[in-house]
Parts: sequence; C-alpha cells; structure tokens
Amino acid sequence: MSTAGPPSAPAPTVVLGVSGSIAAFKAVEVARHFVRAGVRVLPAMTAAARQFVGPATLAGLTGERVAGDMFEPGLAGEIHVALARAADVVVLCPATADLLADLAAGHATDVVRAVALCTSRPIVVAPAMHPAMWAHPATQRNVRTLLADGRCRFVGPVEGEVASGETGLGRMAEPLDVADVVLGLLRQGARRDLEGVRLLVTAGPTVEDLDPVRFLSNRSSGTMGFAVAECAALRGARVTLVAGPVGLPTPTGVTRHDVRSALELDAVLGALLGADLSGADALVMVAAVADYRPAERAAQKLKRSGAPLTLTLEPNPDILAGLGAVRRGGRPLLVGFALETASGPELEAIARAKLAHKRVDLVVANGVATLEQPESSDVVLVDEAASVPLGRLGKRDLADRILDWVAVRCRS
Ligand code: CTP
Repeated sequence: MSTAGPPSAPAPTVVLGVSGSIAAFKAVEVARHFVRAGVRVLPAMTAAARQFVGPATLAGLTGERVAGDMFEPGLAGEIHVALARAADVVVLCPATADLLADLAAGHATDVVRAVALCTSRPIVVAPAMHPAMWAHPATQRNVRTLLADGRCRFVGPVEGEVASGETGLGRMAEPLDVADVVLGLLRQGARRDLEGVRLLVTAGPTVEDLDPVRFLSNRSSGTMGFAVAECAALRGARVTLVAGPVGLPTPTGVTRHDVRSALELDAVLGALLGADLSGADALVMVAAVADYRPAERAAQKLKRSGAPLTLTLEPNPDILAGLGAVRRGGRPLLVGFALETASGPELEAIARAKLAHKRVDLVVANGVATLEQPESSDVVLVDEAASVPLGRLGKRDLADRILDWVAVRCRS
C-alpha cells in the first residue's frame, strides 16, 4: 500500500543533555516546550542528574529511551555517535560548573559529555550553579574558551534565587527562554543567507549626562537591536554591535562596542565605517538616539535651590541622516527605526517621510500603544517600493523579517 503525497520531512531533533544540578527538574519543562513544538527530544542524563530527576519522567514525556550508560549491555554501536548524528541542536540543560570545565577541556567521560564532543551542530548551554562558582575565574575561563571555540551558545545564567536560598548570578534561565533560543536555531537551520555580510547594528538608548549623577535618556531596553544582532550572526553575518548602556549579554559571535552618549555613538560608528563608509555592507540603526543633550555638563553635582531650574539643551547630530546624506552608490544599506505614537496610515506616512528625509533604504515603523504599555503595536516596513504591514510580532520574528529584506538587498 502506498501513501499519498510527498514524504514528510523528519522532525527536527534535539539531544537534551541533563547534568547534576538541583535545576535538573527544569529540563523537564524545557522538554515539554520542545514536544509541544513538534520537536523530537532524545534525552541523555549524567549519573548525577539521575539523583535529581527520574529518567522515567523524561522517557515518559519524550517517548524516547534516556541514554545514560555508554556501556549498556546489549546496546549496538556507539550511543554517543548515534545521538550526535541525530541531533540538529544539542542542549545542555542544566549545565554544571563541572560540565563546563569538561567541555572546555574536551573530556568525554559520560554520554552527555561525549555527545557534546562528538557533535558538529550548535550546542546550547544553560548553566546553573551557585553564583560564587559561576563567578570563579576557572569557570569564567572555561566559558571564554567555549565561546572562543564557537560551538556553544549560552543562555543565562540569570540573576535570582539559587538552591541555597541566596540571590545572585547563577540561576538557570527560564525554561521557556532556553526553549525559545533552541527553537529559533532549529527554525533557522540551514538558513545562512547572510554569510559574509558585514552588518553594523546599534542598540539601546543613549545617555546624556547633566552632572556626575544625573542624565537624560529614554526607555529603550536594547532588546530589539540585540535580537537583530543575534539573528544576523546565526544567519552567517559578521556582526558588530554598538550598544548604549544596557545590561544585556553579548550574543554569541557578535563583536560589541559599548557607548554612552549620542556623540560617542557617532564617533564609534564613524571609526567603524571609515571616511568612505566602506566598513560595513549594511547598518541597522535600532538605537534610540537622544535628539538633544544638555548644553553644559556640570562637573559637580547640581545643587537644589528654591528657584525653578531651566535646562538648556542642544541638538545632537542626526547620525542616520548624516550617513544618508554622504553615502554614495547605495552602500552601506541604511535601515532606520521610527517609534511613533501613531498607527495605521498615519504611522506609514511618518515612516515614508523619514525614509525620504533621512535618505535611507528601509524604515521600520513601530507604533507605541501608550506610555504605560510601551509594547509595540503595529509594525510596518516601508521602503521606496512598498509598505508591508506586519501587525504585532515578537522581536526575534521582526528581526528576521528585517534581515530577510537585508539579505535580498545585499544580493541585488
Ligand atoms: N537617529 C539618529 N540620530 C538621532 C536621532 C535618531 O541616527 N539623533 C536614528 C535612530 O536610530 C532611528 C531613526 O534615526 O533609526 C529614527 O529616529 P527618530 O527618533 O524616530 O527620528 P527623529 O529624526 O529624531 O524624528 P522625531 O522628530 O520623530 O523624533
């Protein structure tokens, strides 16, 4: 009997390697997210992990046998090789300090470690440990080694309560966040359409100092720009990120420069692009650059007096418009953002006016709902040829839509 239609593609597959931490129970939640998303999960547990979570839980949830013993009687072939070949992504969750040390040294003393050493696919690592262990120079050295090797992508740890009841940086990232990163990698799969593209991304607010303790700034969190940088790196771009003051971790594979004020951002971009702007193929200008800065920065803290205080502000350069005015030959591609308290046709009209005024190639217009809920509402992509309304979408999805546009335009 034959079945109708083309054969369906094999399900994306992750190997979920669990090591011995109290956070091991969170691996169950991560597995649940994968299963819900239609991902095949092949679990592997270290001996220590089995002290925290029963293999039956992971086996029941995933419908797969849990690998643990490399020398299990009756097992044909090499289990770590089979798992490494089957995986599209290997997820180490939670990852202990000991596991990180072994990965950095290339040890393969159990099935989880051996799969990590054997795979050529991306490895997503979700560390969990006491903050003192995470901060230890040995652990940090191992993390640097793993990042430099370019195989591992870290999610967390995050600040929060750890098993001992103390608070600090060492808590495992939320299961949904770990799953999101892995699902994003699976979605991107072989999508390396930005291979070789030199992409410059700016992100976050600028901070304009009034005196040594006070400043003018805005609510930008930097997450949109970091999402663009991260997604672009995954798609093969050579990404340089220039970030205002935000507490976000640098995405794997991205070179980062931190700046504070609009003038600093302008100077760093100028140095990276060079006088002829040949230093990048495209610039995605997500940073919420302050339009004004205090005319004077007080060297000492301003003192309170009974009288009203008038601040004199002077305009910052419009960095994007400046680049639009001097570039020749359409390179680098220039992408601007417009955050507006408008929606629908009005939002689109503002975006089109900015496209012309700043002489850029694409404006990503984002309608802010209200001051209290500054989540984006409408998003519309406006270039010279068309306006594409995207409705509401997450930051990673929006990043990918912008990068789709960049990928096409970089090839033309
Ligand atoms: N931008 C810039 N330099 C500035 C201000 C903004 O390069 N001094 C860039 C932002 O990074 C963004 C785009 O310009 O990509 C649009 O920013 P927006 O603040 O919306 O533009 P403005 O020209 O300042 O317009 P508005 O009068 O609406 O504030």
